[in-house]
Amino acid sequence: MGQGSVSDSERIRSRLWRTRLQALPFALRELGRYVRASVLREPDRREAALAFARRHAEPGNPDAVLAALDRFAREDRFLMNVGPEKGEILEDELRRIGPQARVLELGSFVGYSAILMARLLSDRGRIVSIDVSPESSEVSRAMAELAGVGKRVEFLTGSANERLDSIDERFDLVFLDHWKDLYKPDAEKILARGLLAEGAVVVADNLGPMFGENPYLDWMQARSDFESRYVEGHVEYQEIEDGALVSRWRGR
Ligand SMILES: C[S@@+](CC[C@H](N)C(=O)[O-])C[C@H]1O[C@@H](n2cnc3c(N)ncnc32)[C@H](O)[C@@H]1O
Repeated sequence: MGQGSVSDSERIRSRLWRTRLQALPFALRELGRYVRASVLREPDRREAALAFARRHAEPGNPDAVLAALDRFAREDRFLMNVGPEKGEILEDELRRIGPQARVLELGSFVGYSAILMARLLSDRGRIVSIDVSPESSEVSRAMAELAGVGKRVEFLTGSANERLDSIDERFDLVFLDHWKDLYKPDAEKILARGLLAEGAVVVADNLGPMFGENPYLDWMQARSDFESRYVEGHVEYQEIEDGALVSRWRGR
């Protein structure tokens, strides 16, 4: 909960339209870039990002790969990576948990957040990252190999909700970063299937006003078995307000 008696979701609701107006120049610029890429038949942005990282990053250096992806997203085409600012939330949690952490991620895209986390793990740590798009899984796998952390990440393809049915292990950190309306149903499945380790933390990105109201926020903040804090930040690579919810499970 933020300051005073106003809940985070009320505060976000009051800023929906102001934030969307702020985001208008960004949306128009992206539309222009999309049209240009379609007319010029440029490769898909995920493949273009991989080619850029291969040209500009030293192989085996995860920081160099992340820096190349940040540069591509700022200078070429937008990438919906967690980005360096909100990435710090994941880094802080992983430093606290330790290098043997087991991580479940919903939404791989081009592998940015998986690389950001995997570089803090030892070979005893592990990340399972699920994406509904085969192209995203393929690019993410290649990106993680380029960064030298491929052995620590298993990229699975399919809808998270379906893939969760066949996962039978416990995770110390869960990162929800796929389509926003799926956070609540997929978090419910993670809980119902007992996939959280004792004291696990669930981080949910993009709960800020630009993304509209998300029932996940009130649902998670009302739970007495989790201790949640809303962390304010910005939409990756933009000045637009965003936020993430960090929820620590109090255990069985
Ligand atoms: C915001 S991006 C993930 C960014 C990534 N976590 C990072 O920070 O580098 C969202 C991804 O979620 C994937 N996605 C959407 N719906 C999904 C679903 N039902 N199951 C799994 N992945 C999904 C999309 O294909 C997209 O690649």
